[in-house]
Amino acid sequence: MRLTPGPPRHVDLDRVDLFDLDLYTSGDPHPVWDMMRAKAPLHHQVLPDGREFWSVTRYDDVCRVLGDHREFTSERGTVPTHLGTDDVAAGVLLTSTDPPRHTEVRRPIGTRLTARAVRVWEDSIRRSVVRFLEPALDGGTFDLAEQALLLPAMVTGPLLGIPEKDWEELVRLTAMVTAPSDPHFRQGSEAATLAIAHHELVTYVKDWVRTRRAGGDEDDSLLHHLMSVRPGGVPLTDEEIALDGYSILLGANVTTPHTVSGTVHALVERPEQFAKAQADPSLIPNLVEEGLRWTSSACNFMRYAVDDVRIGGGTVPARGAVVAWIGSANRDETRFPDPHEFDITREGAKRQVAFGFGPHFCIGAPLARLTLRVFFEELLQRSASIEFDGEPQHLRSYFIAGTTHLPITVRRRRTT
Ligand code: HEM
Repeated sequence: MRLTPGPPRHVDLDRVDLFDLDLYTSGDPHPVWDMMRAKAPLHHQVLPDGREFWSVTRYDDVCRVLGDHREFTSERGTVPTHLGTDDVAAGVLLTSTDPPRHTEVRRPIGTRLTARAVRVWEDSIRRSVVRFLEPALDGGTFDLAEQALLLPAMVTGPLLGIPEKDWEELVRLTAMVTAPSDPHFRQGSEAATLAIAHHELVTYVKDWVRTRRAGGDEDDSLLHHLMSVRPGGVPLTDEEIALDGYSILLGANVTTPHTVSGTVHALVERPEQFAKAQADPSLIPNLVEEGLRWTSSACNFMRYAVDDVRIGGGTVPARGAVVAWIGSANRDETRFPDPHEFDITREGAKRQVAFGFGPHFCIGAPLARLTLRVFFEELLQRSASIEFDGEPQHLRSYFIAGTTHLPITVRRRRTT
């Protein structure tokens, strides 16, 4: 998705199609969201097949929709690519469960992913990042977007307990779930692509659990930990562990790479910001927050209204689907002055909602922040300059704001 918007233009909000994939591949969605925040903070769209949804684009409304499960439930599904089909894993899958059950399901995973718990992974993440960057530093063309797809696998693979030989396949499957229309990942129709990938991912984790149980193997991995926890005194079933593993794989694989590519893209476009970060590495944590805000790789999440709800100056009827546009909330001018400026010294960048808001706030946020910090520390320390070496290509998705190709050349810094 284009992250630096073109000039402001008039948008007919009665005709705009927010699910038009071309808008995200070759178009420019930010001017559309700017206009929605200003003129139609609650927007209604009916798709040609009759499915309909409401959209909120302002920061406060996005937080309310994502954060208040009493008004907006997650139990009928949260991903807009599934609009109109109720989630069969409701009440089991972490992402499609409301509190209080959600709190029970989340707790055993959360304890392993706090900022403190993930700190032990820093050295291993750094080694993975250094290994990842090595081929980029040889001076040839390096397709960062393509390569970055493997980065979370290098980081979360050991944490989850999944062997390296399986990562490439798992990365492909998670990409199919999140961008089933992208020609890179599509297999037949969009629905077929989703079904194949979902089935294979869940089967993979189920087989993993079954083999471990049969072999009595013990390790320190997160999946193994889930085999031994007993929320409410009852152990998790293999199905529940498989669905938790599925959520974690998906959450980790599909967002971090696009945040990396989008932030590097912004830095290459703005050499003065690159130089600033390089001159003062203490700015890197804020660069990470600004990169998260800027890229908003999870571009939206969906909820369903429980009853009629007044929001954004209008009413969402009971059972109506509401899409909370995180990408727009993170450019809300009332929260982020000059929102379309990428500024690594921005005050309040940490208020970004790229990780969502409320009970479903990204459980992997500490790990993602750590990975991104280490990535930019190593990148800035090792490269003298970075240039584009071809046209970037955007992911064909209205759910994940991403890049499929970002060819760059990196000049190695003399000191390393
Ligand atoms: C830059 C990286 C990331 C971004 C932008 C991101 C974004 C998000 C967002 C917006 C949500 C909220 C979903 C909702 O409200 O329904 C979420 C939830 C989640 N994320 Fe992430 N995520 C990232 C990295 C990760 C990583 C590294 C992991 C795994 C280690 C992960 C696992 C999850 C899981 C399991 C959930 C569901 C939490 C729940 O429902 O309680 N994410 N993520």
